[in-house]
Amino acid sequence: MESVNGDSKVNSVETPEVVLKYSIPETLRRPVLIRSRVLMSAGPATPAARVTEVLSKPIMGLHNAETYQIMDEIKEGLKYFFQTTSPITFCSSGSGSSAMETVLINLLEEGDEILIGVIGSFGQRAVDIATRCGAKVRVLESKLGTSLLYEQIRAHVETHKPKLLFLVHGDSSTGVLQTLHNIGDVCRRNDCIFIVDAVSTLGVVELCVDAWKIDAAFSASQKTLGAPAGLAPITFGPRAWSKVLGRKTKVKSYFFDAVLLSKCWGCTDEPRFPHHTISAPILYGLREALADIIEQGTEGFRQKHLDNFQYLCEGLQAIGLELFVEKPEERLPTITSVRIPHGVKWPVVSDYLMQRYSLELSAGFGITEGLIFRIGILNANATHQKVDFVLRALYDGLKTTSNYIAPRPKIYY
Ligand SMILES: Cc1ncc(COP(=O)(O)O)c(C=O)c1O
Repeated sequence: MESVNGDSKVNSVETPEVVLKYSIPETLRRPVLIRSRVLMSAGPATPAARVTEVLSKPIMGLHNAETYQIMDEIKEGLKYFFQTTSPITFCSSGSGSSAMETVLINLLEEGDEILIGVIGSFGQRAVDIATRCGAKVRVLESKLGTSLLYEQIRAHVETHKPKLLFLVHGDSSTGVLQTLHNIGDVCRRNDCIFIVDAVSTLGVVELCVDAWKIDAAFSASQKTLGAPAGLAPITFGPRAWSKVLGRKTKVKSYFFDAVLLSKCWGCTDEPRFPHHTISAPILYGLREALADIIEQGTEGFRQKHLDNFQYLCEGLQAIGLELFVEKPEERLPTITSVRIPHGVKWPVVSDYLMQRYSLELSAGFGITEGLIFRIGILNANATHQKVDFVLRALYDGLKTTSNYIAPRPKIYY
């Protein structure tokens, strides 16, 4: 070090004291411990064996013909699941929230008016994203545990003439299902772009993007589709896409820029653009997850979810539990919300279920935290055997950890 001391220049060499601030984390010297479990949470789903198997296949680079082939097969599968012919169908890399963000930030410009239907926390998340985009956000909120009525939505669209309408098809935070019938017609008559969040419904609850005049829709790989989280399917129809292409301002995200993503996925005639590195195992997983549902038959797949959902609801009521959503037609068949009985501490029950049964269910989320718990019947877990297991474990868990006095139906004890 050189120091200046009055007129005299002194050179001195100091040995720096070596302080070992960072030590090797001892935990990383051991193999990771992942307990096997019965995953009946609000998502992710347990992947089918075929999906788990493909995850360990050799990693390929993104820009080669074999990877493009897999991406193309995923696109074709997604078009079928969304029931659309739109070529602008691809995935963002991330969970369902990444798709929500991609759709909203690409469709919204500063000052655009958007009407957002809120039937749970995920509608609120859309409000948050749209507000960050500088949009004028109008919220139409249902009473907790219920969906919005067609008449309410129609009246709001006709009166306020928003440029965009955002509805959640099924909100996993409340377990509420929103009917979408005829809303697309209302939007077309009022020059409004219709966006649907199908994260918790795609593949199980009927959704016909083209026939229902939906302009943009999105989902996630890890719920009903049964792949690991990490890819989020998105489709833009012609009206939505022309709004994206006609933006006055550049979208303020590189990673979620829909035009770049569409080029990465080869949705247009332009050469593929190496926008970002997509996780190869998740691509394989989603490809196989879609193929697995197609092999089962999409109708059979849907029906087995509906049957098991019905079976679960009956079983829950038989042990004295109250479904959070009162009207059967407003219940989301993939994720069932159940009121926490008076005096029951859900975290205690939940711990017991994990320790005793290796069973993972979900607590409430956002606006339903402390009010409900949630059971997912997703993909490979849509079986009577799994539902029986959950009911027996729950019955025992409630009895053992609290003063809950449940009826004693024969099959559950
Ligand atoms: C309707 C809905 N939208 C969005 C999301 C967010 O998805 P993710 O958790 O995959 O980001 C969820 C998650 O449960 C959801 O149910």
